[in-house]
Amino acid sequence: MKRHYTILILVTVAATIALMRVVGCGTSRSARAVAAEKVYVAPGELDKYYAFLSGGQSGSVFVVGIPSCRLIREIPVFEPRAAYGYAVHEGDPRREELIATGGLWGDTHHPALSETHGVYDGRYLWINDLSNARLARVRLDTFEADKIVKIPNLQGAHGIAVVSPDTKYIVVNGEFEQPTDGMVTNPAPYTSVVAFVEPFTMEVKFEVRVPGNIDIADTSKDGRYSFSTVYNLEQGKDLASMIQFDRDAVAAIDIPAAEKAIAAGKGHVRNGVPILEGPENPGLLTMIAVPKNPHGVNVTPDGKYVIASGKLSPTVTIIDTKTLKIVAEPEVGLGPLHTTFDGRGNAYTSLFIDSQVVKWNIEKAIKGAPDYIVDRINVHYNIGHLQAVGGASMKPAGDYLLALNKLSKDQYLPVGPDMPEDQELIDISGEKMKMLASFPTPPEPHDAEFIAASVLSPKVKQVFEPAKDAIAAGSESVVRTGPHAVTVNMTMIRSAYTPDHFDVREGDQVTLRLTNVETVRDMIHGFALPDHDLNLALPPGATRTITVDAGKPGVYWYYCTNFCSALHLEMRGRMIVQPKDSTIAIPDWKAAQNVKGPVAGVPSTGAGQ
Ligand code: CUA
Repeated sequence: MKRHYTILILVTVAATIALMRVVGCGTSRSARAVAAEKVYVAPGELDKYYAFLSGGQSGSVFVVGIPSCRLIREIPVFEPRAAYGYAVHEGDPRREELIATGGLWGDTHHPALSETHGVYDGRYLWINDLSNARLARVRLDTFEADKIVKIPNLQGAHGIAVVSPDTKYIVVNGEFEQPTDGMVTNPAPYTSVVAFVEPFTMEVKFEVRVPGNIDIADTSKDGRYSFSTVYNLEQGKDLASMIQFDRDAVAAIDIPAAEKAIAAGKGHVRNGVPILEGPENPGLLTMIAVPKNPHGVNVTPDGKYVIASGKLSPTVTIIDTKTLKIVAEPEVGLGPLHTTFDGRGNAYTSLFIDSQVVKWNIEKAIKGAPDYIVDRINVHYNIGHLQAVGGASMKPAGDYLLALNKLSKDQYLPVGPDMPEDQELIDISGEKMKMLASFPTPPEPHDAEFIAASVLSPKVKQVFEPAKDAIAAGSESVVRTGPHAVTVNMTMIRSAYTPDHFDVREGDQVTLRLTNVETVRDMIHGFALPDHDLNLALPPGATRTITVDAGKPGVYWYYCTNFCSALHLEMRGRMIVQPKDSTIAIPDWKAAQNVKGPVAGVPSTGAGQ
């Protein structure tokens, strides 16, 4: 019997290899052409969707065009990025904000798009920093991080979700449990909290205590419940003790009940945030027992069900979002992690151990029909998240699905022991899934969300709105504001800085207020200052203010780091640092340039001041 089985395997393997030789890696020539056609976006043509991929330990967000899979932007969020002049220099307020809230790196996992009536509206994207318990907001009209907050009373900010349908809160789950009383002496049982953050002020309004490690989040489509998977109800502190119980839970928090309890003053304020306790507020928190150590939690587009993926169990648990009762627990394969939807009644679950996406029919699974599994497709390899276009909204598009794989192994040219991350784009428009393309990214996207270009593109600004302190062309100045302080109000436009030189003294603190006065999209100018650890990139209309120490006496050429015109190389100017004891008069730069008359209210930078 055993021998027959071995022969059967050998024959199957030989036949498969022969077939692969004929068609080339298992894909026929015509299938390749069809797949290529589906992802081909000709030069000059535009993609149909934006995909926002979390940047994982790069602390950023990657923006990819779909279906071409072209990387079109990286949005640095929690990590400085010299290429964009983002938070690089000491005096950059964005850097100060990062340092104040936890540091110059982050671990981004879950992008969440703002919603109106349950569909993405293109205003904002939120992204978590697991490591430093932060939440950042990215403006989608400028593709820039505009606010970063630290979430108190919480460690390991993991799952986040927008409260549907109108973005009432951003839910942030605390995965790393802490002693409940906040003490480390004679610690109370370890628990954690789910934070509810107001999306526009980014204020943490309240938190709800949940036992165990709070993992992934989603919300019901009517704003009633937030759902979180919870593992380690054992409150174990090591791996072995975290996987003892047969069942852990999906925690359902009744949001209106929480708001009522907060209004009635039932929160226990810690670090400025009221925390609600389940036992003190009956009905607030429902723990729904599901197979142990569940992972993803995803609400169906119609809002009827919430689906918890089993991770250690080969099942998904389907829960009715009205009754909070389990209606089915179908088997889907090994290592189910996350589920997404096509809007046609099908769910797609990532299988980490099987390295597959499994497509299954939700109603058939609930009814116990034997044919609820529709299709399976291999991915490369060990998929984590997956996301279909609009899969987390009330209106999935049902056309593409992105598999975010943890290991790329043999998929790309080797680049050292560490390989790039691998994403695969799958066509889900038909009954059978079709693999279209794979593309690598730097480390390490966890999750993705899509938004239609037709929704977002019209909202994207061509230039930044002038800031209150923007410098207008013609009003540039160099102002001595103190015995050791100079402010340089500078503009930049193709292809010159105004002023193109200024004098300061050793020991001066030089505040550079720079405005790019271009009115044309894409006309970025850089401002790099050698030996001052300073490089800024200013998109059109942007103003940045940075203070630097003048440094050692000498001539420092500031220059443009973004290629902007045929005279890009000539776009530079001098900061001349005179020695402290220099007897050379430091002239007013306007006088030096024959500009008539003093600038009103502006003292010159002449000697003796
Ligand atoms: Cu401005 Cu190059």
